[in-house]
Amino acid sequence: MIHLRRRPALLAAVPLAVTALLAAADPALAAGGVGAPGVGDPYFPLAGNGGYHVDHYDLTLNYDPGSRRLEGRAVLTARATQRLTRFDLDLRGLKVTGLTVDRTRARHRRDGQELVVTPGRALRAGEQFRVTVTYSGVPGPVTDPDGSLDGWIPTDDGAFVAGEPQGAMTWFPANNHPKDKASYDFTLTVPEGRTAVANGVLLGKRTAHGRTTFRWRQTEPMAAYLATATIGKFRVQQFTTRAGVKVYNAVDPREAAASAPVLKQLPSVLDWESKLFGRYPFRAAGAIVDRAPQAGYALETQTRPVYDRAPDIGTLVHESAHQWFGDSVSLTSWKDIWLNEGFASYAEWLYAEQHGGKSAQASFDALYATPADGDLWAFPPGNPGSGKNIFDTPVYARGAMALHALRTAVGDRAFFRILRAWADRHRHGHGTTAQFERLAERVSGKELSGLLHTWLYAPGKPNTRTKNR
Ligand code: ARG
Ligand code: ZN
Repeated sequence: MIHLRRRPALLAAVPLAVTALLAAADPALAAGGVGAPGVGDPYFPLAGNGGYHVDHYDLTLNYDPGSRRLEGRAVLTARATQRLTRFDLDLRGLKVTGLTVDRTRARHRRDGQELVVTPGRALRAGEQFRVTVTYSGVPGPVTDPDGSLDGWIPTDDGAFVAGEPQGAMTWFPANNHPKDKASYDFTLTVPEGRTAVANGVLLGKRTAHGRTTFRWRQTEPMAAYLATATIGKFRVQQFTTRAGVKVYNAVDPREAAASAPVLKQLPSVLDWESKLFGRYPFRAAGAIVDRAPQAGYALETQTRPVYDRAPDIGTLVHESAHQWFGDSVSLTSWKDIWLNEGFASYAEWLYAEQHGGKSAQASFDALYATPADGDLWAFPPGNPGSGKNIFDTPVYARGAMALHALRTAVGDRAFFRILRAWADRHRHGHGTTAQFERLAERVSGKELSGLLHTWLYAPGKPNTRTKNR
């Protein structure tokens, strides 16, 4: 998606001296032609890499659930944002068996999660280049700072693949940070009888010599953590919605009975969310319902969330809302995680409110009753403090409370206009908390910095209670 890559286009156009100045100001742009080992995220310093953007990933993977062996080839089409004599990719474990840059063999070495690449000649700022990495091995998950597993998680019949925040690098070499979004092609080969499900639209499926190859295409830009290649014995259901969205559901037969009534509601949930948040951002949708107790969580993998078990309606609403908030509008820093989780949680409150359940105000009040020393108030959602806390209660629940406080302050009309404007202005791009605050003030015409500061950044239980509506 070249038109979305504002930064490289800008850097390519400005003279060298200015590029150097910008490089000095941006920690991700290291001097001396060496791409930085991270994009500068304080919570995950080595996540992503400096010096280039990836436009497209073409991933060809072969997986054998019996031996748990993965053979992969990744072709990255990228663009240098500075002169590069050396740059990094993120890759954990696995063995690199070949690496070329623009079809010429390149030197490379491993250093923890960094795959350090030295191309045969320096890449010019603005130059497009292609990296091909062949690799193999037995992939496994990473353990996140919060102790949960993330990445390639083997199951009894395949693998549950969910990469938030770090796990993409456990199965393909990536610029592993949501700041860098790209389109994807997947060619996944598994033993006949297993199904391999990725993001986007299924282009084709072919069986030969006891192995089946699934080809998937994710056209709209996607952050690496939202990629999946979940494999198992699945029952598949395919249809196109009235709005023209291609739905592909893959369900572990052991979860089929429990998930059927909830999955049936997917089209109406997406319709309802489209009315609230604006047009659904992708051409494909669906669900992957696996049995993966090792993971213990669901993830909003783009177009097609992965569920570790049959979801309840709240979880379906939550992961679907992420398609707008988190997937289409992406983070630039993990610190802003409330922009994902607070919004998806508030979508659950809204769903209940509009479908005969609790009002959002009642959800707010119930949480507000939490005593001041409760976990809910352990830290403010706009400043979780470290990567260990990004999926904790304050991010989800107090994040949703912050949105409800905003709604109470500006009224329903302005509030829903703000949500739609946010999804629309930053569609297929990025957004920061500061940008959200400015947008809310612009749309509502109200000064909101005090209220938002209280709910997002002030430590402890806020004592300015929103009025009952
Ligand atoms: N974003 C997921 C959700 O829908 C949660 C992911 C949790 N990941 C983790 N590694 N703990 O809430
Ligand atoms: Zn979530």
